[in-house]
This record gives sequence, C-alpha cells and structure tokens, in this order.
Amino acid sequence: QCGIAVESRIDCGRDRSLSRADCEGRGCCYVPLPQSGLGGPPWCFYPVCYPGYKMGPLLPTEKGQRATLARSAPSYLPRDIPTLQLDAMPETLGRLHLTLKDPASPRYEVPFVTSQSRGHKDIQNPLYDVNFQPDPFGFIVRRKSNGRVLLNTTIGPLLFADQYLQLSTSMASSVISGLGEHYTPITLDINWSSVSLWNRDMAPHRSANLYGSHPFFLQCDGYSVLLLSKMACYVEVFLQPAPALTWVTVGGILDFYIFLGPSPQSVVQQYHEVIGNPMMPPYWSLGFHLCRWGYTSTNITRTVVQLMRQAKIPLDVQWNDLDYADQRRVFTFDPQRFGDLPQMVEEFHQLGMKYVLILDPGISSASPPGSYKPFDDGLKRGVFIKNSTGQILIGKVWPGPTAFPDFTNPTTQDWWMDCIRVFHSKVPVDGLWIDMNEPSNFVQGSVDGCPDSDLEKPPYTPGVIGGQLNSGTLCVSAQQYLSDHYNLHNLYGLTEAIATHRVLLKVKSTRPFVLSRSSFPGMGRFSAHWTGDVRSDWEQLRFSIPGVLLFGLYGIPLVGADVCGFGGDTTEELCVRWTQLGAFYPFMRNHNDRPNAPQEPYVFSQQAQDAMRTAITLRYSLLPFLYTLFHHTHFSSSTVARPLFLEFPTDPNCQSIDRQFLWGSSLLISPVLEEGAVQVTAYLPPGTWYSLHNGEAYCSKGQYILFPAPLDTINVHVREGSIIPQQVPALTTTASRRNPFTLIVALSVGNWAKGELFWDDGESLDTFEHGHYSYVLFFAQEVQNRVNLTVRVFGVQASPTAVWANGQKVHDFSYSPDTKVCNKCLCFILIFKMC
Ligand code: NOJ
Repeated sequence: QCGIAVESRIDCGRDRSLSRADCEGRGCCYVPLPQSGLGGPPWCFYPVCYPGYKMGPLLPTEKGQRATLARSAPSYLPRDIPTLQLDAMPETLGRLHLTLKDPASPRYEVPFVTSQSRGHKDIQNPLYDVNFQPDPFGFIVRRKSNGRVLLNTTIGPLLFADQYLQLSTSMASSVISGLGEHYTPITLDINWSSVSLWNRDMAPHRSANLYGSHPFFLQCDGYSVLLLSKMACYVEVFLQPAPALTWVTVGGILDFYIFLGPSPQSVVQQYHEVIGNPMMPPYWSLGFHLCRWGYTSTNITRTVVQLMRQAKIPLDVQWNDLDYADQRRVFTFDPQRFGDLPQMVEEFHQLGMKYVLILDPGISSASPPGSYKPFDDGLKRGVFIKNSTGQILIGKVWPGPTAFPDFTNPTTQDWWMDCIRVFHSKVPVDGLWIDMNEPSNFVQGSVDGCPDSDLEKPPYTPGVIGGQLNSGTLCVSAQQYLSDHYNLHNLYGLTEAIATHRVLLKVKSTRPFVLSRSSFPGMGRFSAHWTGDVRSDWEQLRFSIPGVLLFGLYGIPLVGADVCGFGGDTTEELCVRWTQLGAFYPFMRNHNDRPNAPQEPYVFSQQAQDAMRTAITLRYSLLPFLYTLFHHTHFSSSTVARPLFLEFPTDPNCQSIDRQFLWGSSLLISPVLEEGAVQVTAYLPPGTWYSLHNGEAYCSKGQYILFPAPLDTINVHVREGSIIPQQVPALTTTASRRNPFTLIVALSVGNWAKGELFWDDGESLDTFEHGHYSYVLFFAQEVQNRVNLTVRVFGVQASPTAVWANGQKVHDFSYSPDTKVCNKCLCFILIFKMC
C-alpha cells in the first residue's frame, strides 16, 4: 500500500505538517527520506486506494451523465460535504466538462457567459473516453485514438469539505504551461513546486501570487489537454515530477473543462470558445503609447508630445497617470496643474493622436459631504462593498480612505456609467486604464481590520504573499451583491473591466480601449493587460517574454510589459533593447515610476534615439500584419504573440523556448536580452527563414544560429511561404493608415507564398460581423524565374476606379459587384528568394 515511487507520492499533509503519529492517524503512509521533507517529496503520503467518496450508478441526463458520490467515512477535514453530485458533460467532440458540487446546498459558481460555451446535446464519437473508478471515486480520461491516459485522478483521494477541496491527477507530460499569473518561464517547474492563484498588487518576482488568476494549464507536447477550472476563490496547484498535480481550492465547486485539441493551437481555440474570444482592438491601440507617473501638469505632458514629434519618433497615444487627479481622486482633475486638460486632449486629437488616463476603483470617502459627487452619489445609490456587518468597508489607497465599488451590482454599473459619462463630457478620453483593481488596499482588509472568522482565517492557510487572503486587499468576509468577497475576489478586475468596457461602448460608440492590471479568464473580451510594476533590469526584460506569451494563451492577446521597465532607473542600452523587444509586444507602452530617471526615447543619445526610432518605425510598418492577426484572434481565437511550441508542437527543441517568439506563424522575433551583447543565438525551426532586414535566407534543419545584433538591430525572420502586408510608417497610425501598402513575399521551397490582410476603418464596432471590411488574399508563385502574384480582395464595396502596383497603373484588374471581389488590386512588392 505504501510502496509508491517517490515522485508519485501525493502529500497527505497538504493542509498542515504532520508528525508520524498524526500522519498514521489519518491512515496515511509515513516514510521519511534522507533529504528534508520541506519543499521536496512528502514523507507523509496517501496509500493506494485511500478512502474517499463512493460513486453510485451513472444515470443519463439531458447534458450527459450524473452520479451521486457519498463519503464512506469522514475525512480529516472540518465540515466535509458528505454527498456530492457529479455531472459529466461531453460538450463538443474535443471538450469534456465535469462538475462536482453539493446537491444539498448551492455553493458559489462563476458564470461564464459566452454564447459558444454551451455544448451540443448529442456528441457522437468524441476524441475522449472517460472511465470512472467507483470506490474510491476517481476518473481517467484517455485520448481515444491512441489510448493515451491524459488525466488520472485515482492517484489520490477526492476531498470536498466546506473550505478545502482537493483533487490530484496524473499528467500526460512533464512540459506544462499556464497557471498564471506568476513570474515564471513559459514552462513550469514540476519538481515539487506550487503556484497560488489569488489576485494581488505585487511587483512581479518569483514565487509570488501576482495580479491575475488563470486556473488552467496546457500540456505542451502535441497531445495537449487543457484543464480549466471556473474558480474565483483561492486556488493552489502543486506540481510533482510523476508528472502529477494536485488542485486545492478553499471554496466554490470543482468545475473542470478538459480540451483534447489535438494540436496545442486547437486546445487554445477550444479554451477561448468557453471563455469568449478576445475583442477586436482599435487600430490606434497598436501604435506606440507613452506614459509616466510624474507628468505633473498639462504643460509637461504637452512637452513630452512635442519632444517626441521633434525626435520624429512615432507616438499614437499619450497617457497621464494619477497626477491629473485633484488630490488623487478619480473623476476630478487638478484645477491648477491640469485646469486645461480638456484643451490638451483636443490638441492631441488635432495631431491625430489619442489620450488615455488612469482610473482607480478606490473612491475617496474622506471629502467633506457635498464636495465629491462620485462618493456622495455612490453612497446614496448603495454601490459600495460592505463589511460583514453591513457598513461600507473603508480601505486606503492613493487618495487616503476609500470605498470600493461592487461591480457585480447592476446599480454600481449604472453609477459607474454616470461617473464616466460626466467626466468624458469634459475630458474626451479615448480609453481608460483601470489600475489597482485586484483590488489593492494599503491596509490589511479595512481601516477597522477584519472579523475573526473562518472566511478570514480558513482552516487551510493559503500560500499567498502576506500569509492571509486579506493581505493587501479587502476583508474576504466583505459583502458583495453576488456573494462574499471570498468567492468573488479574483473577479474584481474582470467585473470592473466589463463595466468600463460597457460605458465606453455607450459613450463613444467605437471599439472600447480598456487596460486592466488584474485579470481572470474572459478578460480579453473586454480589456488589454500589462504585466504591472516590472523593474528596469535585464532579468525582467527577459521574463517579460513568457509573461506576454502566457497572456496570449489566456485569451488576452493585447498585452505588453512596461517598456524600459517601471521600477528603478533604466540604462540607455537596456532601454534600447527593451524598445526593440517592446516593438513586438502586441501592446507597446513605455511607462515609468515617479522617482526614476526619465526614459522617454528622446532623453537618450542620438544613437539610442535612432535605434529606438528604427524599432518603433518597424513596428508601424508591420501594423497591417499585426492587425490581421488580431482579426484572426478575435474571429477564430488564435494567438498573436505566439510561443514556438504552439506553432511547432512536434519539435522538442521548441518546447521551452521563451527568449524568442512568433507573430502569428510567420515572423520569428529573436531579441537581445543580455547586457553588452551584440550577437544573438537564435533557434530557427526547420525550413527557410529570411532576415526581415535584408532578405538573407537561412536554411535551417532545426538549429541554433548566431546572428549579428548591433545596438540598432533586433533580429526578425520571415518564414518561408508567407506574405507579410506592410504599410509605409508615419508618426501616428492616423497618418500611416493613409500610406501605401507594401508586401514582403517569402517564397517557400516549392516557390510559392501566401498571406492575407484584414482591413477596415480601424475603430467601428463589429465591422467583421457587419461586413464592413476588406479581406485581401495574396498568393505568389514563381514559374520559370517569374514571380506571379495573385491578389484577391474580398469585401470591396464598389468597383475601384484605378489600381496601382509598384507605382504603375494596373489595367487588367477585375471587379465583380456580385461577389465584391477585386482581382489584382494592389501594391508595392518586395520578394525574398530561396537560398
Ligand atoms: C500602480 C501601477 O501598476 C503603475 O503602473 C501606476 O503608475 C501606479 N499604480 C500609480 O498609478
């Protein structure tokens, strides 16, 4: 019973450390190991077939099958749920949904509300088989085509008590990715490690729970399974080399989706179908953004814009941090320093630019009554979160004492709409930056502390920074419209993003731009994300790549890290390299903290400015390609910035690469990430790759190649067989969108290449859904040293009057008013030829 391989031992003392007597008292095995039990394999572990729940007969339901599970004997936990209801719901051929809940009394469940997330009723011949072990209960999911076991939960007991739920499973692979938000490489360490999911205002560093929670993982080796759980309360996941994982949560229900792919890309697609496809961003949001905490007046902010223009460096969006607000209270602006904010925004608009400012959720509660409408009005309308005894919970954030809007309450959503609408009527912002929304609180729980209750101090002490769930946030016993904060904590940012997105939609009637720090599955439908308070150093530069790539998997493709770093002084070299990498973040913003040396591109030497200008200009020239990737992601949930393993799942070399990444499937980005380096060793997957700069071809067998990378260069390679649409860059996207297009054609071994372009007005709502777009397909083929390029443009609303290619008029283009297809309708072409 106790003869279990060390790497497969499932810890029986997860909830607390146990002596031999305590361990054996639980009916577990106690077998010490030479090395310390701390952080390594457990000494106290479950024997084979440790008693748990016993499963009754499986009965058919409308959605699948249902069984009742009953505990044969009490567990060692307080408040066992003695009877559970299991539902196994095959939702699509590749998606299985399993829930375990208490049939006797409802527990909090996170609603995912997407139209695609409901499955079909009758699934014939799915990709999976599920077998149940009735006693002790467990299930095994296999891939039908090859019999491979993807998950096996019979390796440990199911525990389901009021505040402690646990399930262990084997994994089919040791290479796994996900379970964010953490400061990790793209693949997780499974050598007795753990991750905690509890949204927290915390500058990224190792082993800390950070701003967002994404309770799912992806096995990265070509036969992927994705396990997603809909849990908004605290989740902890333990990883061990078996390979296996143990899922622990302190509330709610167990609710798992298993996605069979079969390719990792299709797993991501299946996942996004459940949480909702990402929004289509406005075109301008793909331009360069500039921000700093410390632009302390409109005049200083104007000067920043002027200096950027003088330096001829593209800038689409100027931002202000909290400096603009009167006594740091949102929905106000400082009458002295920012008195002419509305005019400044208008001036930026005249330049073809956009303007975004910050909005914190904490509403100052200390202004004299009658002097601060957002609070007075919110108080009247009952929009704020209450403490466990029904008074408004007061915490402390930048303005001092603050109340926190409860965005799960429809009244709060309406009040938020009114606050933003009034502010927007004075300051016509183009987007909103919702910060501090974990929610962050500078006192623990509230200014009055938190009650001594099971919610505040669950029987199981979570592995979070600060050791308590209420550290750096609200009392978890606080009351919200839908449930306790305990159950809703990880949803705070998402609910704020939903409310903010809705307001911008109403107020502007164009695609909303919201940037949120806190995140949860589904966030990408409403908001972009940045990776928070990263430090200006080389390590954080490097880790920003997995940070950004993981958010693509989480369905939030519009993501980036603060370019040049937020905390601490940057250096010129670091800032150049970060700008080069940032030019390939899907969302590119340079943002800096107050006390630090300035880091706007124009403060550096001419050489550094030139390098930054080159990088940002390169980004601008590639925006049509980037925008097309966003269209695909919005429409059919692919990824924009893509880890190599997603594109080359069967290439073992690609499994853990996170110093390079792809844009879509065609551009490979290999930045310099080390101080002083002027070369970069980059992996090129098998095939021909062309340097984006000079077209030089590299025929790779799947190998590392050393490339020169002087300070003014970021290595980017174009994959054979692709056509990349570009546009002549300008200082704003407003201007660049009027410039001519060009194409890069990278011929394949078979002498062909293809590509596409999605094009619309860049900001109207649902252009794709309403057919207000053009879709251009390019196909090139070389026959007897002549390259024929076919261009087919879909969705052309009226016959073009003229078509130009390489500066020459094309006379033989054709247009069909019935299909709205135009043949031979473009451009300027640059062709790369095979080596
Ligand atoms: C914390 C955010 O992470 C940071 O970006 C911002 O500058 C400060 N709050 C001040 O608003």
